[in-house]
Amino acid sequence: MSRRPLDGRLVLVAGATSTSGEAVARALSAAGASVHAVGTRADALEALRDSVPGVTTHRCDLADLDAVTALAAELHETAGPVDGLVHLVGGWRGGGGIAGQSDEDWEFLDRGFRTLRNTTRVFDADLVASPAGRLAIVSSTAVDSPTAGAANYAAAKAAADAWVRSVAQGFRKQAPQTAAAVVFVVRTLAGLEQQLGDQVVRLWDGAPGALNGTRIPLEPVSLG
Ligand SMILES: NC(=O)c1ccc[n+]([C@@H]2O[C@H](COP(=O)([O-])OP(=O)(O)OC[C@H]3O[C@@H](n4cnc5c(N)ncnc54)[C@H](OP(=O)(O)O)[C@@H]3O)[C@@H](O)[C@H]2O)c1
Repeated sequence: MSRRPLDGRLVLVAGATSTSGEAVARALSAAGASVHAVGTRADALEALRDSVPGVTTHRCDLADLDAVTALAAELHETAGPVDGLVHLVGGWRGGGGIAGQSDEDWEFLDRGFRTLRNTTRVFDADLVASPAGRLAIVSSTAVDSPTAGAANYAAAKAAADAWVRSVAQGFRKQAPQTAAAVVFVVRTLAGLEQQLGDQVVRLWDGAPGALNGTRIPLEPVSLG
């Protein structure tokens, strides 16, 4: 079999059981990566294994730092250090204007942000040490065009966006020749899942110095 672009790369997909997670896992796997997919629901992870053969799944609450630390130890022991972290835990909550932004919704969205902080803190050393470390998240156009009705959501996504660009600054200092952290920006992922998967694979084609810290728009391809 001919060599594939991501042969030998181990990529962790954090929050892998949504439609976009499955598309990313499929694209990475087809490109030769060893894909380790994480979620909290056993049935969804089983469905992912059925749908994308070859993917290894891990049930882990990524909002729990101790659980993420244990996941890293397990991965290091059984598979090795990670070369890529694709973080896809998100979810949406809206509300009625600023006064309608509830604490419950903020807790939910902040929990998603915590999964990003935990996974990046735990796997940063792997990404820096990798010959081709990559971190990617999917942010929202709401960061640049926030609305009162989705202020909680815009604030949580803005925090994630800033966090990843902070990781990028660390990469610039510690691994400028090899590591890159990027933010994909989308209004809605519906219909763009395959494009996301393809773009994630292409992150390993790009020169790290040019990619690192960039925000990459994902838009529907116009046919007209
Ligand atoms: N969908 C859109 O139109 C859109 C628009 C803009 C940006 N985005 C962003 O794109 C990314 C992907 O979005 P999506 O809609 O495809 O996915 P999503 O619905 O946010 O998917 C959540 C994924 O994360 C997993 N997950 C949730 N909590 C977890 C936890 N504590 N520990 C481990 N896994 C956890 C879920 O699996 P379990 O349920 O099994 O835990 C699921 O696989 C997100 O960051 C989202 O904010 C999406």
